[in-house]
Amino acid sequence: MKHENSITVRHLTKKYGTKTAVDDISFDVEAGTVFALLGTNGAGKTTAVKCLCGLTEPDAGEIGYDTETGLRAPMDCREHFGLSPQENAVGMHLTVEENLRLMGKIYGVPHIPERTEQVLAQFGLTEERRTRGKALSGGMGRRLSIAMALFSRPKVLFLDEPTLGLDVLARRELWKIVESLRGQTTVLLTTHYMEEAQALADRIAVMQKGKIAAMGTLEELREQSGTDSTASLEDIFVRIMEGGSV
Ligand SMILES: Nc1ncnc2c1ncn2[C@@H]1O[C@H](COP(=O)(O)OP(=O)(O)O)[C@@H](O)[C@H]1O
Ligand SMILES: [Mg+2]
Repeated sequence: MKHENSITVRHLTKKYGTKTAVDDISFDVEAGTVFALLGTNGAGKTTAVKCLCGLTEPDAGEIGYDTETGLRAPMDCREHFGLSPQENAVGMHLTVEENLRLMGKIYGVPHIPERTEQVLAQFGLTEERRTRGKALSGGMGRRLSIAMALFSRPKVLFLDEPTLGLDVLARRELWKIVESLRGQTTVLLTTHYMEEAQALADRIAVMQKGKIAAMGTLEELREQSGTDSTASLEDIFVRIMEGGSV
């Protein structure tokens, strides 16, 4: 059984001055699955993502990616990552097409024109190809941000609040895109929308004040929180935050 591209996180800690943004968290993400960090504002989700993709150095703990050549640290496998940051990384003065090509150049992707056509079609962006970043709707901008993150065919994709501020239809469209990646790409997403974690994630870690308050599949979280089999993630979340049986 191959475990390539799985992620192992142990005792990850990151401080900003005296503030501990991520406080001794440990979890595993299986290759090809979708893992959600769920939590309210300030829980430490973005900080955890930045550590995981090598954008910031943790103060303590280990992060390992299982690769063909063994376990590697984030800095050693960044070329295999795709990131859609919380603040879109879309170039406002570049067109959709130019934004995509730029990713190709940064990552040294072969056959950029062909790959651009493919991604434009895959994300339903062909008609918008000459639209500048600043003229895109919120939903389209997010879609482009994720298309850019996937341009280099990353093995691990980070989506930080992929549907923040989107309307219901735009959100559902992005959910479909994430669904289509299952089995091929390891996806780590953050969200504060319960229904998003419930709809997309194979496993969920509930973050609170930098710590993981509970973790598991939806069924496991129900059990841990003592809620019944019909409980939504929202019921579970409330129970956990109220200091239920977890
Ligand atoms: N660059 C920074 N400098 C100082 N404090 C920060 C910085 N980034 C985040 N924080 C603090 O760390 C905590 C976690 O923030 P963040 O990781 O952005 O949470 P989330 O993404 O869950 O909203 C918050 O209290 C936030 O104010
Ligand atoms: Mg955040």
